[in-house]
Parts: sequence; C-alpha cells; structure tokens
Amino acid sequence: MPTIKQFLEKAGDLRLDAEVILAKVLAKDRSFLAAHPEEDVPGQVVALFQKRKNGEPLAYVLGEKEFYGRTFKVSPDVLIPRPETEGVVEMVLNRIDKTELKDGDFITIIDVGTGSGAIAATLDLEAKKPVNVIGLDISEKALAVAEENCNNLGARVKLIESDLLEVFDEGVKNSGETILVANLPYVSRDWDWTSEELKYEPSLALYAEDNGLKIIYDFLEQVGDKVDEGWVYLEADPCQHESIRKKVKALGMRFVQSKDFGIEIEI
Ligand SMILES: C[S@@+](CC[C@H](N)C(=O)[O-])C[C@H]1O[C@@H](n2cnc3c(N)ncnc32)[C@H](O)[C@@H]1O
Repeated sequence: MPTIKQFLEKAGDLRLDAEVILAKVLAKDRSFLAAHPEEDVPGQVVALFQKRKNGEPLAYVLGEKEFYGRTFKVSPDVLIPRPETEGVVEMVLNRIDKTELKDGDFITIIDVGTGSGAIAATLDLEAKKPVNVIGLDISEKALAVAEENCNNLGARVKLIESDLLEVFDEGVKNSGETILVANLPYVSRDWDWTSEELKYEPSLALYAEDNGLKIIYDFLEQVGDKVDEGWVYLEADPCQHESIRKKVKALGMRFVQSKDFGIEIEI
C-alpha cells in the first residue's frame, strides 16, 4: 500500500480529488493528510481513485454532492446537481419571499423532473413561508434517490411518478400561490462542447430532441392547459432562452426575466 505522501504525489492533476476521496474514506479533514504523510492509504481509496482517473465524475465516485449547503446522495440513476441550478432555486426563493398569503393558505411548489430531489428538498427546507412541495419524475429509480435524500435531510416532499404534469389530470387546483420549477433535460445530442463526464449520467436526465427544447416545450404546453395562474421557473442553457421566450409568448404567458441559466415566467 502506498503512503499518503506517495499516493498524493502520484495523483498529478487530480491531486485535489485524491485528497477529497482519501479524506472521505478516512472520515478526516484534508488537513489530516498533510499532518500524517507516512500513514498507509487503504486499498478502497486506491480503487475509488482509479474510477476517478478513468473519467467517472467525483460525485459518483463519492456517492454524494453538495447542493445549496447540504449533502445529497447521488447515484448513476440521477443527474449530479449543478451549481447553476442553485441560481434557479434563488429565483424561486425570491418569489416565495414576495408572495403574500391569506391565513391558512400555502404555496404549492411542484418540482418537475426532481431527480435527486435537490431542488424540492432545498425549497422545502429554505422557504420562509408555508409550502407544500411535490416532486415529480418519470424515473422510478430517481424517485427512490430523492426519497432517501428527503428522509435524510428532514424535507417534507411528496414524491410522485409522472410524465411531466400528467398526474394532474384535472389540472393543478390550489387556493394559494402555485410555483412550478423544472430543470428538465435540455442538452442536444448535436452539441459538441459538452463535458466528457456527461456519458456517466442518465440520458433520461440530459437529452432532449429539437435542439434540446422538446421536453421543455411539452412541459410549457401542459402548464398552459393545466395551470390557471402562478409562476414557472425553468433551467435551460442561455443559448436556448430566446427560443423559449418566443414559445412562452406564443402560449400567452409572460416571460418575466432570464438570469444566467434560470428563466422566470408568469402564467
Ligand atoms: C436535468 S435532470 C434534473 C434533476 C434535478 N431536478 C436537478 O436539478 O439536479 C432532469 C430530470 O427530469 C426527469 N425527466 C425526464 N423526462 C421527464 C418527463 N417527461 N417527466 C418527468 N420527469 C422527466 C429525469 O428523470 C431527471 O431526473
């Protein structure tokens, strides 16, 4: 077995990842590594680091990813939550802050394509107003990961298997405010600038037809049919925002603003 010093010296460009894997398996801070260079590295660490060297994303190697200050379990059944999605969460939290509710009312938040549950759980835990959070996903396996995350974090989220909003066959009925948030697949298979690491993530979470816009457009059409009023927050690549703005206008909704990867729409 290599010592910590030998192992880290050989890690090259991936030295930081090697330190993170080592610290996690040893259940120590990274500062421990510098203070104990002669300790042996467990074989498990060498095997995990080999996966990282082969190209597997660090989050899958570790089985977790931090999102909005909390640790979420991730597996190859779910997308690894991204920092840009934290910006979309911020937009929703701003809307929640601005919402005025009558006594006894609450805000219904529907997270469409919940994946690991990162958005849904974060909104439930961060909202400063009464909320009722629902997480929808077409993938049963993703919902199992979301359930584990919500339980671990103490988030109250109702998780339902649904193709977009199809579970709401009578439409979304609610006496308080309604907020829909959707980080749906928006990557086009034609884009040649995406990261190599995407091949480890579920295709169902990443790719959509029509330059990546098909699922977002289907969702917006369902919103037009099923939700009378409220707000929609979408994540999409900035290069898609102008097309989405036109679609939103054609459906008779108001494109309020676009900020980084996030879009705000009033129904
Ligand atoms: C880009 S991932 C987002 C995951 C998570 N919300 C996040 O931000 O990290 C998209 C998610 O949408 C789900 N999805 C794909 N098509 C769907 C559909 N037609 N209806 C519901 N969920 C869908 C995928 O299973 C995946 O979990």
